Amino acid sequence: MGVFASTDDPSSTGHEQVVFCQDKQTGLKAIIGIYSTALGPALGGTRFYPYASEEAALADVLDLSRGMAYKNALAGLDHGGGKAVIWGDPEQIKSEPLLRAYGRFVESLNGRYYTACDVGTYVADMDVVARESRFVTGRSVEHGGAGDSSVLTAWGVFQGMRAAAEQVWGTPALKGRRVGIAGLGKVGKHLTGHLIEDGAEVVATDVSAKALAWTRATYPQVELVDDTAALVASDIDVYSPCALGGALDDDTVPVLRAKVIAGAANNQLAHPGIEKVLADRGILYAPDYVVNAGGVIQVADEVQGFNFERAKLRATKIYDTTREILRLADQEGVPPAAAADRLAERRMADVGRLRTIHLR
Ligand SMILES: NC(=O)c1ccc[n+]([C@@H]2O[C@H](COP(=O)([O-])OP(=O)(O)OC[C@H]3O[C@@H](n4cnc5c(N)ncnc54)[C@H](O)[C@@H]3O)[C@@H](O)[C@H]2O)c1
Repeated sequence: MGVFASTDDPSSTGHEQVVFCQDKQTGLKAIIGIYSTALGPALGGTRFYPYASEEAALADVLDLSRGMAYKNALAGLDHGGGKAVIWGDPEQIKSEPLLRAYGRFVESLNGRYYTACDVGTYVADMDVVARESRFVTGRSVEHGGAGDSSVLTAWGVFQGMRAAAEQVWGTPALKGRRVGIAGLGKVGKHLTGHLIEDGAEVVATDVSAKALAWTRATYPQVELVDDTAALVASDIDVYSPCALGGALDDDTVPVLRAKVIAGAANNQLAHPGIEKVLADRGILYAPDYVVNAGGVIQVADEVQGFNFERAKLRATKIYDTTREILRLADQEGVPPAAAADRLAERRMADVGRLRTIHLR
């Protein structure tokens, strides 16, 4: 077992700390990335994934932990940004001892990093990790956790979409708008409900027959189309990517008929230049990490003892934050993601600076 805090050249990535964890007996190989604790303990999930190499795992954790710092800052949380990756195939190596070994590494950071679920880890896994560490959130309801975070993720996306609609059409109401949802999974299903309640028309697609059957039975008024290509080329006002990352690519953006994009999927921009293409086509993109923060808001609330109404109130504020970002982008003539980054950096600097007022 060993913990290595990398301080070789922290300026190259801007991270405060990167911790390599290994436990040979259980097969655990993990990397915890702490980008910033300026706003409080770093918070972000644990991704369990069979990376091709240690370099690929490291690159992912550095990238993801930095992203969490910006997401948490914009969500108004008292949390910095962190993330962890466990390198390996969860189907093959996930076990109680491995998760508990990982939990001991999380505990050894003394609260500088709080973990939660991500790709390849589930609430039941967090319950196991929590047997070794106090710094675990995203646990099951039976273990004092908040449970499924997609409920507030969908609520937050809905709020962000309303703010974007207001910027484009002068009213946040989605009544009468045609909204295209790609991905009727946990988030997409809840989002469909909010949109229908608001009077929007929903057109959607999914690759899963089960998801389609559920939608047909629950919301027969939803129009289902064959695939995402058909969805984006159809006559929609709003496009909501709720499946995988990279949804806004060189094939999609040129044919997209929507005027607004607001969805739950992480890392929707396939490459940085694509935002310029969106702007040139007059399409307003509400940054994914702003509008999909409802999930992290939910797990952050759990740290204090989960209160759904309090967390929902905070997720509702995604409307105000999105509005402010879009207004700032307009004012300063920059893409919304650049405006969002500036706002996050300002909060990290202004609030983080207060730590120089020492309390003892
Ligand atoms: N659940 C959360 O709290 C949360 C929080 C932040 C971000 N996100 C992101 O939002 C997205 C959706 O999350 P989720 O929890 O609903 O996941 P999910 O796995 O429950 O749902 C994803 C859905 O997308 C469908 N899908 C996959 N490929 C597709 C394709 N090519 N075309 C159409 N549909 C396709 C799947 O069949 C599935 O139904 C993910 O990118 C996730 O990372 C989720």
